[in-house]
Amino acid sequence: MGPWAGSLLILLLQLSGGTQGDVLPAECSNSRDPGRIVGGQDAHAGRWPWQVSLRTRLQEHICGGSIIHPRWVLTAAHCFLESHNPWFYQIKVGGLSRYPTEPNTTITAISKIIIHPEYRQNWLSGDIALLQLDTPVQPSQATPVCLPEPQTALPNGTSCWVTGWGSTQERVLADTLQEVTVPLLDSETCEQLLHLEQPSLAGMQLIQDDMLCAGYGGGKKDSCQGDSGGPLVCSINHTWVQIGIVSWGFGCAKPNRPGVYTRVPFYTEWIHRTLNDSTHVHSASLGLLLVPLAVPLLGAL
Ligand code: ARG
Repeated sequence: MGPWAGSLLILLLQLSGGTQGDVLPAECSNSRDPGRIVGGQDAHAGRWPWQVSLRTRLQEHICGGSIIHPRWVLTAAHCFLESHNPWFYQIKVGGLSRYPTEPNTTITAISKIIIHPEYRQNWLSGDIALLQLDTPVQPSQATPVCLPEPQTALPNGTSCWVTGWGSTQERVLADTLQEVTVPLLDSETCEQLLHLEQPSLAGMQLIQDDMLCAGYGGGKKDSCQGDSGGPLVCSINHTWVQIGIVSWGFGCAKPNRPGVYTRVPFYTEWIHRTLNDSTHVHSASLGLLLVPLAVPLLGAL
């Protein structure tokens, strides 16, 4: 083999084989403070370092989200009812305030919005979306939250935390990031509660396999409008793992009306696959482009 063809082959191998898609980071969940969100309290700086705010270009807060990788945000599909155009949105990373003029925060553009195909089809399940950021976030600004294994299941009653700038009372968004603890509730009980005093919903299954419920029978503490897309995290062996995405509820913090969340373990594989495919496309197409170039050269050996 001549020196030319040899180096071309090495180049090809490097381009097509060596490039992997985005994989989830080994480092996640390093909260610096281990320790309407309705009925919650102001969060402390650094406690939820994966929390982001999804906003319009005019800096109006729309939804919450979480950093799962320096280039990726996890959020809810229903946050994009207004537009699917990434240009319409921005992400605020770091800090506790809902307002953009806060020191040590970054406003980042979005390059891609990936809505789960299931959501496109039936709007009942698949309330999950991935956003690719234009520029990766710096480790000083945010730490990714850990994702659960697909088979992760936590016992009912496990206390988890939900965070966001959503309403704390009638239609008023929070100025400072709120946190509240809510217990996980099994789907069967949740389904029964949501049907109480709702004869028009008789016979309808509300809680799908890809949803989970959390909240108190007596209400009072809950996520609310504006918290959607934000993370429900539980501490598993001293590691914060995102188990839910704020999705829907009948009102907020009402008795017998738990909050409903997208069940993240149900989608762990989809998330991994989507991140991985996102950069693979480039390397694969680059390889394909070079093959016709390389074949005649190799044949000439
Ligand atoms: N759909 C709401 C949003 O877009 C979230 C509602 C959550 N409701 C609840 N009771 N937990 O912000």
